[in-house]
Amino acid sequence: MGKLIIVSNRLPISVSKRRGELRIQPSVGGLATGIKSFYKSHQAVWVGWPGIFKEALQSEEVPLVERRLEEEKCHPIWLSKYDIENYYYGFSNKTLWPLFSYFPNYAVFNAQFWRSYVKVNKIFAEEVEKLASSDDMIWIHDYHLMLLPKLLRERLPEASIGFFLHIPFPSFEIFRLLPWRKEVLEGLMGADLIGFHTYDCAKYFLESVRRILGYEYSLNYLFTEDRIIKVDAFPMGIDYEKFASLASNPRLQREVRRLREKLKTEKIILSVDRLDYSKGIPQKLEAYERFLDKNPGFRGQVTLIMVVVPSRTRVEHYVNLKKKIDEMVGRINGKFAAIGWSPIWYIYGSLPFEKLAALYLASDVLLISSLRDGMNLIAKEYLAANESGTLILSEMAGAAKELCEAIIINPNNISEVMEAIKSALTMNKNETRKRNMRMRERLKRYTVTRWARDFVESLLQVKKKQQEMATRRLSDKTAENLVIDYKNSKTRLVILDYDGTLVPFFGRPDEAKPDTELLGLLEKLSENCNLVIISGRDKETLENWLGHLNIGLVAEHGFWIKDGEKWRLMMESLSNEWKDELKRTLQIYVDRTPGSFLEEKDFSLVWHYRNVDPELALVRVNELKDALLTLVGSYNLEILEGDKVIEVKNAGINKGVAASYWLSKENWDFILAMGDDWTDEYVFEVLPEKSYSIKIRPGLSKAKYYINSVRGARLLLRKLITGP
Ligand code: UDP
Ligand code: G6P
Repeated sequence: MGKLIIVSNRLPISVSKRRGELRIQPSVGGLATGIKSFYKSHQAVWVGWPGIFKEALQSEEVPLVERRLEEEKCHPIWLSKYDIENYYYGFSNKTLWPLFSYFPNYAVFNAQFWRSYVKVNKIFAEEVEKLASSDDMIWIHDYHLMLLPKLLRERLPEASIGFFLHIPFPSFEIFRLLPWRKEVLEGLMGADLIGFHTYDCAKYFLESVRRILGYEYSLNYLFTEDRIIKVDAFPMGIDYEKFASLASNPRLQREVRRLREKLKTEKIILSVDRLDYSKGIPQKLEAYERFLDKNPGFRGQVTLIMVVVPSRTRVEHYVNLKKKIDEMVGRINGKFAAIGWSPIWYIYGSLPFEKLAALYLASDVLLISSLRDGMNLIAKEYLAANESGTLILSEMAGAAKELCEAIIINPNNISEVMEAIKSALTMNKNETRKRNMRMRERLKRYTVTRWARDFVESLLQVKKKQQEMATRRLSDKTAENLVIDYKNSKTRLVILDYDGTLVPFFGRPDEAKPDTELLGLLEKLSENCNLVIISGRDKETLENWLGHLNIGLVAEHGFWIKDGEKWRLMMESLSNEWKDELKRTLQIYVDRTPGSFLEEKDFSLVWHYRNVDPELALVRVNELKDALLTLVGSYNLEILEGDKVIEVKNAGINKGVAASYWLSKENWDFILAMGDDWTDEYVFEVLPEKSYSIKIRPGLSKAKYYINSVRGARLLLRKLITGP
């Protein structure tokens, strides 16, 4: 592996200008603070926006800033004021952020924002392309850059590209509101590995991909036409030792003593949030106010230190929230304050590390009330720093999945939060330490370095898996050998499935009629080989479409066979008496499941559910299978689960039985079989070792090779006619 290129909107250091003077400071926010501690120890470069637009700098200041950033292994992307307005404040923070934070009413859908988002993602792609070499690993972070994986894949097809989303990925019902949902998902699909903090988010993402882009998944792997992509949960950790060692720092201990003396109250509750509506700050204040109302004994005994870090100050909802918080703090302080005591000590600003650390150590309780939060690192940092502090944590924060020994609250339930404050303040210190010990153990094991290493290793594994699958892909060389073997042989058998192999899979029985190109191809091929089409379709359709050709036909997965002029049954004395009873059962499922329909063949019944809502389909498929199980046993039937179909048919007949019939007809020198779904596996299974077997699309199969598409299958067949 070469170097690691980290790409995020914000660099870990931000440049600003105050009264003409340049200021270079660490950035706040989980992404920057989290990864900073790990990337410096790697051969890495961090590409991102330095927090200021170029027009705000004098021309001589630009190289100065660039040099300073280079020292920190950072590479700046300079964005214009217009882009910051439309891409950063606009699409990123007025569209994606509210939508993904479950505030759909705040989301603005504006085409100009979108255009700027596309443009800036392209700027990032061009800049990364310049820096990257082929063995580098590119790790893209967060919602600002969701188009970047695809843009980079187009420029660097072989690159290892990972993407991590630091904010929640919403459920499909929310995500579908986005007018550019398809483009965003397609953008992400350029990555090899896509990570989220929690498994819930990974699930929501997979579900959206299936519904919007139609790609299936299995065990965290998504299957596209040409690649597999891994999707998984990687809960981000912290630099545990850095926080755990704070307690023994004498300077900090002095600072803690000073703070406690200044406040004079017995108990300190701490709250630290970026000023963001997703953090539930008003809910926290309301609960604290009610707590003081209901528990007068605590007045004068407790102080809430509330740190609110300025954020995205040009977005209206943030401005309004600031006003609301100012007003609430003023009112609560006015209502309860007494001489020498203010219930809330409100700090509006970003704190340097030492100051924040002192607050972590000095406080008895940390109150996190996020309405939505990808992870919330503050909770983890606090626990690592303060072994006897009590954590109240919103169940809506990703961190709640790991920190389950904390007092977990629903921040919308104000009385519950109020009760939690009381329990936390009165909790026995031994009890707190016991709970914290378990959580600290976990934080110690799964640090930010471990998190990053896991992600990187997982990315390398996906690449390996992709390569393994690529070795099974029918290479040009093997295709050439196949054609030569075909030419050199005398007795040739070619067995082909129809839907999904010779024509794209449409899902409706009446679609997928052969086009002239296909008919011409089959006709030519049948002139110099024994060609058999083995399909699940009924014999009338096959006869109608292909009956005029001089080829063998097999219908209904092997029940009907045409070897010469006439159709005949593969196996005589098959009974059909089960059909009426099963038809009644299946009809109930058609009625209860919008979008589904029933197809009747001579020896089978097929329930199609391609156009059914996938969630509903999942439920109905299981219900139906249960209902069918009791019936199939008594009639010696078999249930076939195909691509969005459930087929019930007499047991004992399948495509493999039909293929065996043709295989045993002659001692073939050359055999080729192609198919796309699992019913074709029966054919692959009965082929002699020397045969060529090809599956359309990658995936688990008994076939020796795969090719990517129907187009590829047709091209190969054409080569059999024309030569290599
Ligand atoms: N932070 C900071 N200074 C402050 C407040 C917060 O450096 O005054 C850091 C804090 O240490 C934490 C990060 O900002 O690492 C906040 O991350 P979190 O995941 O809690 O929330 P986010 O801001 O990413 O939504
Ligand atoms: C969250 C996001 C980060 C972002 C941070 C601060 O943690 O996941 O990507 O950097 O908030 O927000 P800002 O808009 O100031 O970068």
